[in-house]
Amino acid sequence: MDATSARVDELMSQLTTAEKAGQLTQYFYFRLPATDAEPALGLDPDAQPRMVEEALERGEVGSLLFVTDPGEINRLQRLAVSGNRLGIPVLFGFDVIHGLRTIFPVPIAMAASWDLETIERGQSVAAREARAAGIHWAFAPMVDIARDPRWGRMIEGAGEDPFLGAAVAVAQVRGFQGTDVGQPDRIVAGPKHFGGYGAALGGRDYDEVNLSEYELWNVYFPPFKAAVDAGAGNVMTAYMALNGVPASGSRWLFTEVLRELWGFEGFVVSDANAVRNLATHGFAADQADAGVRAVTAGVDMEMAIADPAYAHLPDAVNAGAVSEDVIDSRVRRVLEAKLRLGLFDNPYVDEERARAVLADPQHREAARVAAERSAVLLRNEGDLLPLDGALASLAVIGPLADSKRDTLGPWVFDFDLAETVTVLDGIRRKVGDRVSVDHAPGVGVAQRLSPSIFDMFGGNRPADPEGFDEDAEFGRAVRIAADAGVAVVVVGEWQNMIGEQASRSSLDLPGRQLELLQAVVATGTPVVLLVMNGRPLDLRWAADNVPAILDIWYPGTSGGTAVADLLFGDVSPSGKLPFSWPRTVGQVPIVYSHTRSHEPDNQGRRYWDEASTPLFPFGYGLSYGTFAYSDLTVDRPSITPDATVTVSVRVSNHADREAAEVVQLYLHQRHGSAARPVRELKGFRRVVLAAGATQEVRFALGPDERRYWSTTHRDWVLDSSTFDVWVGGDSTAELTASFEVTGR
Ligand code: NOJ
Repeated sequence: MDATSARVDELMSQLTTAEKAGQLTQYFYFRLPATDAEPALGLDPDAQPRMVEEALERGEVGSLLFVTDPGEINRLQRLAVSGNRLGIPVLFGFDVIHGLRTIFPVPIAMAASWDLETIERGQSVAAREARAAGIHWAFAPMVDIARDPRWGRMIEGAGEDPFLGAAVAVAQVRGFQGTDVGQPDRIVAGPKHFGGYGAALGGRDYDEVNLSEYELWNVYFPPFKAAVDAGAGNVMTAYMALNGVPASGSRWLFTEVLRELWGFEGFVVSDANAVRNLATHGFAADQADAGVRAVTAGVDMEMAIADPAYAHLPDAVNAGAVSEDVIDSRVRRVLEAKLRLGLFDNPYVDEERARAVLADPQHREAARVAAERSAVLLRNEGDLLPLDGALASLAVIGPLADSKRDTLGPWVFDFDLAETVTVLDGIRRKVGDRVSVDHAPGVGVAQRLSPSIFDMFGGNRPADPEGFDEDAEFGRAVRIAADAGVAVVVVGEWQNMIGEQASRSSLDLPGRQLELLQAVVATGTPVVLLVMNGRPLDLRWAADNVPAILDIWYPGTSGGTAVADLLFGDVSPSGKLPFSWPRTVGQVPIVYSHTRSHEPDNQGRRYWDEASTPLFPFGYGLSYGTFAYSDLTVDRPSITPDATVTVSVRVSNHADREAAEVVQLYLHQRHGSAARPVRELKGFRRVVLAAGATQEVRFALGPDERRYWSTTHRDWVLDSSTFDVWVGGDSTAELTASFEVTGR
């Protein structure tokens, strides 16, 4: 028996059932102004923290979330460690989604970099800041596949594709955790929300999900499996019902798949109040039943705002509704995590060091590089970009151009607005006095019909002041644009329009932004459109009428600096879309990896009122480089199912400047026990090519890349078939080769 198990045994032997239930409980801890807390959460703002502190004093809290101040973390930890009988330290968890103090581009943007090193580095910076502040565990990465952009949480994931999603999941787990739970400057990663959350009916957050086994195994599960294989120490449940069973009470998900099949060894946490909500769903009879069902299903810890269902577990044990052994096995996992994190040796945080780490300039630098690499150049007619340095004047137009809070995006709480660089700031700093820069928002702040649950955390753009005259502002913006050499127009969604509970029924630009863009274009001034978004928006008009379009997402703390570097060509855009960009909301869901169907030649004409192809395909993104692909070869014409072929291709950059390209490999199986997608991503590599340089890139295609879950066999299969390979710069790549798999 190793030292950890021995210590866990020793603790277990002393815990009462109530203390065990406490270890399985995670409480929110926040002090919100009464005006916000009461209506939004139904909480008495004083009673909630008091209740948590009393539970800490009784030794009945396993974990807390939403505390980020190091001093406050120490104070609460002291209540846990010295305030009660056994003094078991508390785990502090938090939504460290794209940074703590240094805010990186939003997750969908990071995925658009297709740059696994940058993604890993981003989460390692986030981990370093979080750990220094006293946070031990991130509720991230979100690895839910998202194919419906009406769903606001698409922004938190890596898009539509399971192969890219799995690679990004692994990079994030490594970034947060390092190679193992408990390394210095690292925190536990908690991939979420298991499973299928991204397929909410109608894109409506929390609504039911109905997915076939074929889609679950082949599309929705692979990023979770990859995160588990990478050693993730935690997994979070999902809110919605999957095929009729609320995920947070699903024994199939948390015991059969996660533990028994995948060998997950960490601990599972419910999403917030998701255990209680098993009763709300009409699944559990009451709170006691909800607790029993969740813990039995394999949900080790309950995340609760107040009144945890797990508080009923001691009575349930007494009544024989759940055995003490089941409870013990769950508690062991929680204690093991605390031991592996070293919390028993050192539960407190060094507040002075925290201040230094949070201010580390290298972190802001890493965020800048990430923002540069995640931007996607969607259009560049006549090489309008990069901008000519000799330009005399620039107009920077749009409501998001100088909004610090929107530049950061959603899911941030500890940001520093003072150091956040907007697009306008970045451009001004770059051009100094050389270019005259004028700015106008042009339109007012667009509002949601209902407020966002995050509005209470502050920092939002206030509504337009009384008497704001949008027509006058609009006219002023257009005049400024008319007088400038180039107009940079920044449009998109305000950050509280995307994220949790931020689903939409349309993909239109909110407010009068399209009208503003059209009026600026009508002036005849060349326009560069910058899009701030976490989901594809309806850009049909822009794609036909605006010469240059750069998707900058919500680029984070150093975003404006990165954008200016991209606009003026210090660095070339290299991001690629992690989703198929629809023309209109009526096309969703739209994916590149659809099946051939019985009428493949008519794929682009499935609707009579609009093309059924995407506006921009999956994997797409332009560059200031000029890339050419040649010499695609597969080293063996024919292999057995267990063997591997090597695919190689030559990539050249014919431009007179350095640029990075994401080389992508797609695979198609011509026939087999199921009709397989027309093509699926099975390899990618980001390469940096100097002017005129050529590089050979190789990919291995083995059983892992060809295996799929077949409805015919209700199992994983490796078919004998003919396989087509394409390699290129996006999912429409045309350079192709093939090979055979024969036998068995
Ligand atoms: C609910 C969200 O679904 C989840 O992703 C998040 O981690 C928790 N709230 C905690 O904030």
